[in-house]
Order: sequence, then C-alpha cells, then structure tokens
Amino acid sequence: MTSDAAIRVMDLQKSFKDVDVLRGVDFDVAPGSIFALLGSNGAGKTTVVRILSTLLKQDAGSAAVSGFDVATQPQKVRESISLTGQFAAVDEILSGRENLVLVARLRHLKDPGAIADDLLARFALTEAGGRRVATYSGGMRRRLDIAMSLIGNPDVIFLDEPTTGLDPQARLEVWQTVRELASRGTTVLLTTQYLDEAEQLADQIAILHQGRIIVNGTLAELKQLLPPAKVEYIEKQPSLEEVFLAIVGEGDESVSEDTAGAARTTRKERS
Ligand SMILES: Nc1ncnc2c1ncn2[C@@H]1O[C@H](COP(=O)(O)OP(=O)(O)O)[C@@H](O)[C@H]1O
Ligand SMILES: [Mg+2]
Repeated sequence: MTSDAAIRVMDLQKSFKDVDVLRGVDFDVAPGSIFALLGSNGAGKTTVVRILSTLLKQDAGSAAVSGFDVATQPQKVRESISLTGQFAAVDEILSGRENLVLVARLRHLKDPGAIADDLLARFALTEAGGRRVATYSGGMRRRLDIAMSLIGNPDVIFLDEPTTGLDPQARLEVWQTVRELASRGTTVLLTTQYLDEAEQLADQIAILHQGRIIVNGTLAELKQLLPPAKVEYIEKQPSLEEVFLAIVGEGDESVSEDTAGAARTTRKERS
C-alpha cells in the first residue's frame, strides 16, 4: 500500500444477514483534511465508521488508517484514532473538567489537570468547566465530547453525525470546533445527513448511496456535476435558520459574517 492518505478504503463490503449494506466502498482521505461522508439514514455511514475504528470487521475489501490496516493492525489503528459517536458519551454528574481529567487518567497521561484546562480553553468551556455537565446546553456537551476524544492527540478523528439533534446555534459551535481541529492538522472524517453541513465544513465530500460511493469530490467539483445555471436574478430570502440566528444572536463574529454573506448571495435559478 502506498500511503500518503490518512484513511484509505478499498472495495469495502459488509452485509448484515441478507442486507448488503456496503457493496464496494472506495475513498481516500488526505491528512489534515475534513472529509464528509454524506448519506441518508440507513445508508451505512456508521457501518463505515465502525469498520474504520476497528469496532466491526468487514466481509471483504480493505481499509487503512494512518497507514495501518484495520483488520491486521487494529491495535495500531486504535492508538492513532478517536471516535465520537452520535450520542454524547459524557458523564452528567461530573463537571466538564472532571470528565476531561477522568479520561486523561484512564489514558495514563501526565498532568491530567493541565490537559483538562488546556482543552477547556480550546473549546471555550473554561467558565463552564467547574459546572456539572447536566447544566450544559447541547452544543456545550457535544464540544466537551469532542474535547474528550482529543485527549492523547489522535491523528484521525471520526465524528459520527456530530450535529444531529442540535439546535442551529449549537451546530455552528460544533462547526467552529471541527474547523479548529483540522486547522491544527488533525484529519477529520465526519458523517452527516445534512448537505449544508458537508458544504460548510468539508474539503472533500463523498455521497454513500445504496452501498457505494456515488459521488466523491470537492464542493466545487460536486457543483460542476449539476446542470449549468442559466439565469441568475432571484434575490435569496433569508432561510429560517438565518432568521432564527439573527434573532437569538450567535456570539461568534466569523459566524455572523458567514450568515450575513449567505443571506446576501443570490440564488441561481435552474430551468
Ligand atoms: N448490527 C447490525 N445488525 C443488522 N443490521 C444492521 C446492523 N448495523 C446496521 N445495520 C443495518 O445496516 C444499515 C446501515 O446502517 P448504518 O450504518 O447505521 O447507517 P447510517 O449510519 O448511514 O444511518 C441499516 O439498514 C441498518 O439497519
Ligand atoms: Mg449512523
């Protein structure tokens, strides 16, 4: 295997009884990039993530993470990844800081307190760090969950539907977090059901449909696949999400700019 790819998936196949969920899935993820695996409910996204994180064995095909084969070098793979599932795995009774310290202890790292404080600062949770997680918003919980998964500095992080079930404001918070991760060189593979999430975050987008990757490319490449726009005159109305955010405020300037920009752009009308 030539491996400058952080993740390499070749002809991956998996069936559950008589259901062929993955029927030959291929893709590569470049180191330090954000890769979105897009697909509707039941498409097989979690199945891919579980195989890549060594929780499930494929029936055929191969996959490698950080150059290690998931089937023959699972321990090496586990040492280089972290996985954040769809449902936050934080302990509600503990404070945010205690959750982080606990994980750092479990991983036998030096100075768990300093690791916790550093992550709280990175994820804008310093103020809330001493409070019980039960009092956190959905966005804060998910941020804490992602922070916990970063303990030990994994090269590759899997985020399985990181924003499903979050309100619009919390989604924006998580998006910022994911961008920050990638800017530090972590490779991110995220799954999502939302086109706009892939559009906002991903360097590369692959659509999983009926067991195969039917499209794989950058956003610009994907847009080229659509028929060319003919007329361009309709002023875009703000989406409900933009209206919601304008009313409740967002607390993040870069995000407000994005939203304002989105509201100003004109829609391309196809005929
Ligand atoms: N352990 C399992 N046993 C049987 N069927 C499963 C199992 N895991 C997933 N499936 C089925 O595989 C399909 C893909 O599931 P999943 O990978 O969870 O999709 P997604 O994450 O894209 O929603 C679904 O039809 C699901 O019911
Ligand atoms: Mg899933």
